[in-house]
Amino acid sequence: MIILGVESSCDETAIALVENGRKVLSSEVASQIKTHERFGGVVPEIAAREHLKIILPLYEEAMRKSGCKPSDIDAIAVTQGPGLIGALLVGSSFAKGLAHSLSVPLVPVDHVHAHVHGALLGIDDSIDFEDKFPCLSLVISGGHSNLYYMSSPTHFEILAATKDDACGECFDKVAKMMGLPYPGGPHIERLATEGNVNSYPMPKMLANKSTMQFSYSGLKTHIHYILKNQSLSESDKANLCASFQEEALNQLARKILLAQKRFEPNLKSILVAGGVAANQRFRQILHKELGNKQQIFFPKLTYCADNGAMIAAYGWHEYLKRHKNEDFNEHTWDAYARYKFEQVLPQNSKEER
Ligand code: KG4
Ligand code: ZN
Repeated sequence: MIILGVESSCDETAIALVENGRKVLSSEVASQIKTHERFGGVVPEIAAREHLKIILPLYEEAMRKSGCKPSDIDAIAVTQGPGLIGALLVGSSFAKGLAHSLSVPLVPVDHVHAHVHGALLGIDDSIDFEDKFPCLSLVISGGHSNLYYMSSPTHFEILAATKDDACGECFDKVAKMMGLPYPGGPHIERLATEGNVNSYPMPKMLANKSTMQFSYSGLKTHIHYILKNQSLSESDKANLCASFQEEALNQLARKILLAQKRFEPNLKSILVAGGVAANQRFRQILHKELGNKQQIFFPKLTYCADNGAMIAAYGWHEYLKRHKNEDFNEHTWDAYARYKFEQVLPQNSKEER
């Protein structure tokens, strides 16, 4: 079954075609980072206009690279939220129009949940997804640090989130204080490879608490005072990046360990996703802490940041679940219309199209 995934929640327009939730036939991403750079953050109205400019050519490119015809598409999955409303509207209107013209179902999905499925993209055909659940999943991005218990690919029970800044947000803010470009995570990781993790003592946020929640504002403030009170040489900066990064990532590992101990006998895997999942040091730390106890999946680097393939992969699971439960006609598939999608369009089988 081939799902087309459409993503436009923030500053990346992305379209992908994915077969059976795992095989990526094509995945096109158009980033707007350069456009927003001079404003020091994403400008919502500009983001929406940029999505509008690129979405059709991007779709055509994704179709061309996949070798698929429009009639090969079985359903269209689209990011429903969270995100910038103008940006989301471009993707959802495009997806809705296309689904309407192809007579295929429209599957709206949650962007944060979809990130998790990025970790399982490309998984071997012989592996049954159900064998990887129940699992713990961690989404670490610029906006979220969410830890979930998942009993199935579509069931998300939130165990913890951040009390203040998200992990990626903290990387970005610390990078900005140090004069590094946005997004800061990759720059801090690069500098950290030249530094010593023990050079600067760091506060271990919530380390003595049994809570699984995250907190990053104290760590950020700590860096603020270090930078305010002394001027740093290049090697000091590398040391500071290494020390900061180590603690920022260790906090994540501590909380996953807590959750792992709580759910241990049932867990089949741990899935890690979102922009920060690209961090190689984090992959090392987690493998060292948990690698011999638990199978850990990270996305390929291209699927850590926002992309359409994760939307299509999660859309496939949602489609199957709803199809199985036969609640296609009850569910409000189309979150942005005044009427239900199915009421205007009878479900045609593919052969009839
Ligand atoms: O998932 P994502 O692409 O976008 C959303 O926020 O939804 O995540 C972006 C975040 C940024 O905060 C960025 O600094 C962080 O992921 N990031 C990293 C790395 N690469 C990206 N953080 C730490 N190490 C990295 N290598
Ligand atoms: Zn994202």
